[in-house]
Amino acid sequence: MAHDGDCFLVPGPVRMNQACLEAMATPVMTARGSEFRDVMAGLNSGLRVAFNLSPSEGVRGTESWTGEDGYKVIVVSGSGTAAMEMIMANRFRPGDRVLVPTNGKFGERVAHMADRFCTLKHIQYEWGRSFDLYEIEEELAKGCYEGLAICHNETSTAITQDAAALAEMCERHNVAFILDGITSVGGLPVHPEAWKAEAVVMGAQKCTAGPSGIAAIAVSERFVERTKAIRVQGDSNPVYYLDMIPAFKKGDDDQTPWTPAINLAMGWSAALDALREEGVEARWARCAKMADGVRRLFTDAGFQLLADAGQRSDTVTAILYPEGIDDAWRTRLKEHYGTQVIGGQDDLKGKMFRVGSMGETPIEEMVEGCRRMFACFAEMGVDLPDLNVEEYFA
Ligand SMILES: Cc1ncc(COP(=O)(O)O)c(C=O)c1O
Repeated sequence: MAHDGDCFLVPGPVRMNQACLEAMATPVMTARGSEFRDVMAGLNSGLRVAFNLSPSEGVRGTESWTGEDGYKVIVVSGSGTAAMEMIMANRFRPGDRVLVPTNGKFGERVAHMADRFCTLKHIQYEWGRSFDLYEIEEELAKGCYEGLAICHNETSTAITQDAAALAEMCERHNVAFILDGITSVGGLPVHPEAWKAEAVVMGAQKCTAGPSGIAAIAVSERFVERTKAIRVQGDSNPVYYLDMIPAFKKGDDDQTPWTPAINLAMGWSAALDALREEGVEARWARCAKMADGVRRLFTDAGFQLLADAGQRSDTVTAILYPEGIDDAWRTRLKEHYGTQVIGGQDDLKGKMFRVGSMGETPIEEMVEGCRRMFACFAEMGVDLPDLNVEEYFA
């Protein structure tokens, strides 16, 4: 079935489905009553699907936030950045050394947080280049690190880090493995248990197509133990709203310490129902199929991709503009072709565009969006080969 209407192909916030929008329009309920505890239980259970954790029932009073694997999910009122800050501030003490390798804007944000709450060692790779795993191994082998924190899927440069290799190193060197999974959880294979990750963060508005302004964290038993121990020792970072100890106390009762983002939670729970229905692995496969099509199509048409081959993301693709084209193309694409993609950030502004392949975007929308991108480039004087766009997504 062909797609008509606009094409919204950005790496989040993505479009929300009707059930999610309607759920957010539900008349508000009390924050502490049984109705909201039902919502939280459903949300917790859906989050465990997205995080690829062992299932929970989604029924009030059954400890829906946890499961057989021991991981707990915690809902955060705030965007992904708030959730990431919560982890860095609570899990580490100011003197703890944390290694943060980066190759884009959001990794650098993790480094800035580490600098604020712990003792940072930042290994800065060029944007879009893969990490040098030998250098990271050598650094960890020094034996002075408490943690390794990464942005798993670097949305600014469309590169996915080799989390399995980094996880293996963290285990060998007894270092806490922390992931910003804001554009990976729900869209790419994420394996918190196999990676023995201590904490993984997700944002609702990305791969799970939920509302902006709400996020979640999955934490291991070790994370909970260490965070509590640090508090008892009395040299933890100062936090109040983002303190995880009250959240740990409320979790068993399907509650949050402060007034929850009630209507956002209702919307997100409905969006996660759609993920459950599709199946998390099927969603990974759909995202991968769309990204693979975009990569092959634009490469065959002569465009260059920013990220190193072999680690290109399946939820976002970064494509360099050809000679003579800048963001005026994106404006034209939006205004004349009803199609939105996103631009480059910081030094890459005006030099490239990024195509999101996450959330519930149907393949037909991606096909139609790519046709329109080609038409817009052609209109602006770029000479492109005559390619059958649909074939790339078959
Ligand atoms: C990988 C990654 N990390 C962090 C963020 C920041 O998340 P938020 O804007 O939800 O705070 C983003 C947003 O695009 C992101 O893509």
